[in-house]
This record gives sequence, C-alpha cells and structure tokens, in this order.
Amino acid sequence: MSFPNLRLRRLRKTSKIRELLEEVRLSPKDLICPIFVQEDLKSRIAGESMPGMEKLPLRDVVDEVNSIVELKIPAVMIFGIPAHKDDNGTSAFASNGIVQRAVSEIRKDLGNEIAIMTDVCLCQYTSAGHCGLVKGDKIDNDSSLEILAKVAVSQAQAGADVVSPSAMMDGQVKTIRKALDDAGFSDVVIMSHSAKHRSSLYSPFKDMAHSAPKFGDRTSYQLPYTNPKEAMREIQADIAEGVDIVMIKPALAYLDLIALTKERFNVPISAYSVSGEYAMVKAAAMRGWIDEKEVTLEILTAIKRAGADMIVTYFSKIAAQALSEK
Ligand code: PBG
Ligand code: ZN
Repeated sequence: MSFPNLRLRRLRKTSKIRELLEEVRLSPKDLICPIFVQEDLKSRIAGESMPGMEKLPLRDVVDEVNSIVELKIPAVMIFGIPAHKDDNGTSAFASNGIVQRAVSEIRKDLGNEIAIMTDVCLCQYTSAGHCGLVKGDKIDNDSSLEILAKVAVSQAQAGADVVSPSAMMDGQVKTIRKALDDAGFSDVVIMSHSAKHRSSLYSPFKDMAHSAPKFGDRTSYQLPYTNPKEAMREIQADIAEGVDIVMIKPALAYLDLIALTKERFNVPISAYSVSGEYAMVKAAAMRGWIDEKEVTLEILTAIKRAGADMIVTYFSKIAAQALSEK
C-alpha cells in the first residue's frame, strides 16, 4: 500500500494561500466597543488602570461614537458613572440619567448606524456598590429584580437596542423581558451576562467606574471559576427565561466555557474580554515586551475560535484599526 506524502506545509507556502485557508476570520463586525460616560465631567479624563481608555463627559460621547462607526464597529456598550449614589440606585433608572441621556444623543445623531447596548446593573449607582439592593448584610435578590427592570425599561425608552443585565440576580432575564414587553419594547434585545464569574480581572473597571463594593465582595452572586457545570446551568436558565444572546465573562481564561456553550446550546454567544485582560496586555506592550496589535489580534481571534459570535473588548478600536491595515 502506498501512502500519500503528507505535506501539511503545502498549505502555508505563500501568504495568499494562507489567506485562502483561514478558518477563523476576525472582523470589526465582531466587536462591541465599551464607552464610559461620567456625569458632571467637563472634559475627558484618562483611566489610570486602563491606559488608552477615557471617561467622557456627555458632550464628547457623540464624537466618540462617530469615530467608532468610522472603524466599522457595529455596537457600543455604554457604562455610566453618576454624580449621585443612593440606597436604591435611583440615578440608574432616571429618565435624565447619564446613560439615558447618552443613549438618546447617540440615537439622535446616528440613527441606526450603530447598535446601542447598555449595561443594566446597580453597582455604580448604589451607595453600597453592590449589583443588587442591600438588606441587612445580604444582597436581596427579588427586590433587586424590580429595580433592574426599571433600569432596563428606562434605557429602552431612551433608545437602547440591546440591554445587558450584569447583576447576576436569579430571574433577571425573565423579569426584564416581561417589563420590556409590558412597556411596549418587545423588540429590545436582552444580552445577559449569563455566566459572569467572580474575577480579580475586574479591578481596573471598578477603579474606572467607581463601582467597588463598600463591604464584602460579589461571591454571593457571581459564579466561582471552579464550576463549569454551574456556569452551564446559568446559561440554560437564561435561555429558559427568554434571553436573546448569552455572555461569558471574562473571556481569555474562560475559553473552555465558550466552547462548551457553543457545543451544548444553539444560541448567540458573546464573550466579554474584561478590563484586567486589557490592562495585562497594555502593561506589557507599554514596556515593549509584546507587540500590542499582534497580541490583541491573536487573543481576539482565539476568543472567536473558541466559539464566540461577538466580543466586548476595550481593544475594539485598536483591533478594528489593525484589521483595516491588514
Ligand atoms: C458590574 C460590572 C463589572 C464589570 C462590568 N460590569 C464589575 C464587577 O462585576 O465587579 C467588569 C468589566 C470589566 O472588568 O471590564 N456589574
Ligand atoms: Zn454590577
């Protein structure tokens, strides 16, 4: 019996052959670009633990989103930093809240040229800095659901296309879906932070968004990174509650869970490459130890290869720029 002479290197001979053979292609269309908008800010300020990311005053938001549209990125995710915090997180659902105003200005200027996504959570807005309401020394699930539903509806009223609950309260998808439908927003998409893990990789974000808890931590509601079966149950639960897009967060250290979700469930998957992932790459790149653009494209392609359909990343603009130069 004769065997073919196995030469896999044949497929790597020239750059054009390699291009033709690409199995996974990263595109700007895969990216969701986060934006931080801070109330009562006069001009942009840099985020210390997230070099290159800025907090914007309301008046700069539309310009920023225009620059994102030019890079052919299809979506932004708005995070608000309010001037006022209280026990019930009321500025999170105020019709003139910072996120609601940012959303309506973007919509007014850009129509449907960009998909507007909003974070639905309370941690930036409550005095205690937790993602739900505090009762005694506990984070109360069911009273938090009512507030989260108000937040989502207020954002939909402002013009959000997609609301993205990140509080990890049980039943948040079901409650928000019903509230949106009852308010006439049955076409607003829910992209839930379904498998959001308790992660030390969120620290730069908490500095940036002033959302660190004042007591305790988030271990009573966010997933432990030791439990992949539990992560799949969270995803299953969100699907049963009518979620449109599930999210796995963080991304790079959780590629196995992205792959598992793709294998098990027939649902669009987003991955959130979090602030710590960004900060690690930035810190090494700023010292000249790694090439920022190359490493960014490698990591984002890996997240897509694992099975993500879309990626929330602070590298969105850098990656889209790098892709346009290829
Ligand atoms: C809070 C929230 C966090 C992030 C997004 N929404 C922080 C947390 O849960 O402690 C982190 C995102 C990032 O690190 O980039 N709902
Ligand atoms: Zn939160």
